[in-house]
Amino acid sequence: MTKAYKVKQIFTPTRPAINTFVERAQTLNNHLVDALDTPGMQIVLYGHSGCGKTTLIVNKLNQVYEKEIITRCVEGMTYESIILDGFDQIGKYYTEENKTVGFKINPAVTISYKEIRATLSVGEYSTQKQISKKSFIPPQLTPRRLGQFFGEANICWVLEDFHKILREDKAKTSQLMKVFMDMSVDYEDLKIVAIGAVGTARQVVEYNHEMNNRVAEIYVPYMTSSEIESIITNGEKLLKLKFANKVKERIVKISCGLPSICHHLCLNICSIKGIRETEEGDYPLFIDNQDLEDAIQKYIAVKSDTLKAEFDKAIKVPNKTKYNLPSEILKAALENGKDEFTFDIIFSRLKHLQSQGLLESIVENMLNELCSSERSEILVYDDNSNKYRFNNLFLKGYAISQFEDNEPEIRRATGKSKKIIDRLIAIIENDISRLDDFEYEEIYED
Ligand SMILES: Nc1ncnc2c1ncn2[C@@H]1O[C@H](COP(=O)(O)OP(=O)(O)OP(=O)(O)O)[C@@H](O)[C@H]1O
Ligand SMILES: [Mg+2]
Repeated sequence: MTKAYKVKQIFTPTRPAINTFVERAQTLNNHLVDALDTPGMQIVLYGHSGCGKTTLIVNKLNQVYEKEIITRCVEGMTYESIILDGFDQIGKYYTEENKTVGFKINPAVTISYKEIRATLSVGEYSTQKQISKKSFIPPQLTPRRLGQFFGEANICWVLEDFHKILREDKAKTSQLMKVFMDMSVDYEDLKIVAIGAVGTARQVVEYNHEMNNRVAEIYVPYMTSSEIESIITNGEKLLKLKFANKVKERIVKISCGLPSICHHLCLNICSIKGIRETEEGDYPLFIDNQDLEDAIQKYIAVKSDTLKAEFDKAIKVPNKTKYNLPSEILKAALENGKDEFTFDIIFSRLKHLQSQGLLESIVENMLNELCSSERSEILVYDDNSNKYRFNNLFLKGYAISQFEDNEPEIRRATGKSKKIIDRLIAIIENDISRLDDFEYEEIYED
C-alpha cells in the first residue's frame, strides 16, 4: 500500500516544502553544500522574494545538522534582540525534557546556559526582541559563549531577512559571524546562514573586510520551468493525482518561476475538488483545465487585497510630485506589449516627460527601485539578457486593470469585485494562451 499524505503536507504555499522538495540546479546545490561542508565558512543566501531560499536551506541543513534555529529579523531589529532570540531558542536543547534528542551536550555548558538563563526574566526575550530599542544582555552572554551553545548542540543558526536589521546593528551582527567563524577551530560545523533580499549580498562583508573570503555569497534564482513542473509531478505522485499535461504547462507559465504560486494553485485545485489526502482508488484522479481555472479564480479572489497593496506600494510617490514616474514606467512597459523590455524602450516611450526635463539616470534609478522590495519587486531584471519583465502575471494583470480604466471610482471599487477578478483571469488566460499560439498583441488592441 502506498503511504497516505495529507494535501497540506504536499502543497505548501506558505511553508518550506519537504515532501515535494525539488533539488535546485547542480551548480547552486554544489555551491551551497560545499559552503556547508567547509568549516568556518559563513553563508549569505540571497535572491528575490519567494524564490525558495528558506526551503533550500532547510532541506540542505537537515542533511548536515541536528536541527536549525531560525531567527526572523523584523524591520529595525537590533543586534541585542538577535542575540537574545538565538539564546532563547537554543534553550530547548538545554532543558531537561530534551534528553532524548539523541546527542550529548557537555554538562558544564548546560550549567552555564542555565546560569545565564536565570538572570533573564521570562518576558525578556519575547517582548524585547520585536522592539528596536536596546535590550538588556547579561554580560556573561558574549558572542563566544553563544557560539559555544550553538556549537555544543550542533545547531546551525539561520538569520532570515538579514537586510531588515538596522545599519549599525548589521555591522555588529557581521562581527558576530566573524566570532562564529573563528570558533570553527573548536566546533567545525558552527555556522550562521544569513538570508537576505536580492541586492543585499555584500552587506555582511561590507562591514567586515576580513570576512571577504570566508563568506559564501550564494544567489538563489527563480525556479526554472522544469523545476516548477517537478513540484507538480512530485505532488501528483504522492497524492495519486494525474494533472493533464496542458494543466501542468499552464501552472508553470502562470507561476513565472515562483514556486509559491504553483503550490497555491495546486492546493486550490485539491480543495475545490474536495481532495484532502492521497487518493485511495486504483487509478489516479484526473485534473483538467476547468479545475485549474477554478483554482485561479480562487487564488485571485484571496489575493486581490495583497495585489492591490503591492501595486500601490510599487507606484507610491510623494503627494506634490509633478507626475508619477513609477506609474509612467509601468504603463510604458505594458504599452510596449512584449514580455520583456529594455531600458531604452522604456526611456523612448517617455518622450512626453523628457520634454519636462526627465533624465536617463532618474529613469534608470526608478527601474532599479521597481525591482527592489521597496517597490514590491514588481519588475525583475535579468542580468543576462539586460532586460526587465513583470515579476508575475498576477501583478502584471493587476497593473493592466488599474491603468485601463482611468476612472478613480472604478479604481476604488476594485477590491474584491467580480469585475476585476474576471478581468484578471482574462488577462492571465490571454497571456498563457500563447502556449496555444495566441497572438499576444491582441490583448492590447481594443
Ligand atoms: N525547491 C523547492 N521545491 C518545492 N517547493 C519549493 C521549493 N522552494 C520553494 N518552494 C515553495 O515555494 C514557496 C516559497 O519558498 P520559500 O519560502 O523557501 O522562499 P523564500 O525565498 O524564502 O521566500 P521569502 O523571500 O518570502 O522569504 C514555499 O511555498 C515553498 O514550499
Ligand atoms: Mg524565506
